[in-house]
Amino acid sequence: MASPIQHPQLPLPGYFSKFASFYIRQTGHSTLNILSDVISNDVQWSSHPIGPDSVIHDTAAGPAVGAAALVTSLPKDQLPKELLVSDIVPMMVSAARESLTSSPLPYVECKELDSQALTSVPDNYFTHSINNFSIFTFTNPGDAIQETYRTLRPAGLAIITCWRRFAPMYIVHAAQQKIRPDLPLMPTPSPEFYEEGVLQKVVEEHGFAKDKVTVVEKTFLVTEAEDIAGLTTLMSGDMMAKAREGYTEEQKSQWGESVQQSVKEEIERFGGIRFDAYILFAIK
Ligand SMILES: C[S@@+](CC[C@H](N)C(=O)[O-])C[C@H]1O[C@@H](n2cnc3c(N)ncnc32)[C@H](O)[C@@H]1O
Repeated sequence: MASPIQHPQLPLPGYFSKFASFYIRQTGHSTLNILSDVISNDVQWSSHPIGPDSVIHDTAAGPAVGAAALVTSLPKDQLPKELLVSDIVPMMVSAARESLTSSPLPYVECKELDSQALTSVPDNYFTHSINNFSIFTFTNPGDAIQETYRTLRPAGLAIITCWRRFAPMYIVHAAQQKIRPDLPLMPTPSPEFYEEGVLQKVVEEHGFAKDKVTVVEKTFLVTEAEDIAGLTTLMSGDMMAKAREGYTEEQKSQWGESVQQSVKEEIERFGGIRFDAYILFAIK
């Protein structure tokens, strides 16, 4: 049975449909750059490197972020022979297809699939399964892990990431506090995943053996002016409209400036816009 896609704190699917075409810019390349770093510096040095015999699934892939990370981090002769790019939102899947029209990947399929019910995918199929910064958007994260486990081959590697510090949320909260400190802060989807150990617990309770799970943490600073501009656009625009609920027109008109000031403070504090992430590796 297909699971419901509406997360209580995310205006899905409209949220991601609108977002697809300008996704990469407005994430400041954060999800792409972290995954590329994970592939180059962790996966390729592990006992389960990606190579020409690999068969990979990037689930809840957005506009093919996993595919872009593979192409960025691997030499052409080490690209996987097969890649499935899937997402539940049709516009993400079409954005993925468009972005892959001239990619060097030997064989890619882009499909609309629910990560929590991969009914058309056989058991024991993939050598690697990527789930990059999506788990907190699922209504039943445990089901998605079970499906990852089921569709991985024995000894296959799952790479599952989630935020420890999602910078835009801190910046938006700082901007809210400058204008209307009396109103509630914008809610974060599934905030429990920011806590240490939660991702690991979900993974261990839904198929993977405890001694086959490893978690590392990574910090990523966004410092390029164009990426900072992309993230600032995200935080100033409609995607963060919920942060302005209860505002007068005059207060709404102060939002852009308040975000810019909060971005400036973030950069003064950390030397860039700071993302912290949990990177989990699990072997079937
Ligand atoms: C924060 S984005 C991450 C996208 C991408 N993996 C990345 O690295 O940037 C979350 C993605 O999860 C997708 N999504 C949400 N619920 C889903 C579900 N049940 N099944 C598949 N995709 C889902 C959204 O459409 C969106 O593309």
